[in-house]
Amino acid sequence: MKVKIVEDYAEMSRDAAEVVAAMVRQKPNAILGLATGSTPLGMYQKLVQLHREEGLDFSRVITFNLDEYYGLAPDHPASYHYYMWENLFRHINIRPENIHIPDGTAADVEKECKNYEARIRKAGYIDLQVLGIGANGHIGFNEPGTDFGSETHLIELTETTIQANARFFASEKDVPRQALSMGIKSIMRSRHILLLASGEAKAEAVAAAVEGPVTQMVPASILQLHPDVTFIVDQAAAQYLTGSFDVLLQNEKNAEYDKANR
Ligand code: F6R
Repeated sequence: MKVKIVEDYAEMSRDAAEVVAAMVRQKPNAILGLATGSTPLGMYQKLVQLHREEGLDFSRVITFNLDEYYGLAPDHPASYHYYMWENLFRHINIRPENIHIPDGTAADVEKECKNYEARIRKAGYIDLQVLGIGANGHIGFNEPGTDFGSETHLIELTETTIQANARFFASEKDVPRQALSMGIKSIMRSRHILLLASGEAKAEAVAAAVEGPVTQMVPASILQLHPDVTFIVDQAAAQYLTGSFDVLLQNEKNAEYDKANR
């Protein structure tokens, strides 16, 4: 696991966009795993800028989003479909048929989850998965306690997540209580993982994910066992890390894992 500590949100966003852009330049038909929420907004803005000013080409890129609220139609302003079109897709040259987001209105949720997982598999799995992190350590909508072996599934949002996401809704009671989310295993199958975190509210979760024990109670801690993970965190989010990180730090547990699996 590599941890890059940057000054602030702007630098995190620029760096993250560069990682995504490098993947797209190197592999024009890259399969990207995308996140929503506040954290990647700056990264998406930067990617739109790279598309407009430098012709970054998304015409062959394929995307899979991590999650969607259960019960929200794609045109609901708080849906993740809506978010993705507003913040990225309508500004770049991606083909609509290459975009995948779980369907929050599917009548048969279980079938939708299975199909979603099958579509990821059929595409050849994700090349680069971008993640945010919840203050409770969740990745995607995989709340603490989620099975590490989980694939795309319907989940119950925790009270903390409902409160944290209430800002996107008229009131807290309007936040859906369930969501469809890629599972931990679906995420872990990605070839590269980039996790972004900004602000003090994420500091405890970042420290637990990077330096704490690998436990289902901190879903992001599983990333310590993935062979290619980079965290880009700003100083506020990095404040409880105790290691002497400066630029990129090879986590010891990861080195052990690499050694054991070589
Ligand atoms: C969003 C997602 C979530 C968020 C996390 C952080 O697709 O999967 O795990 O990344 O809740 O949200 P923000 O960035 O709003 O703090």
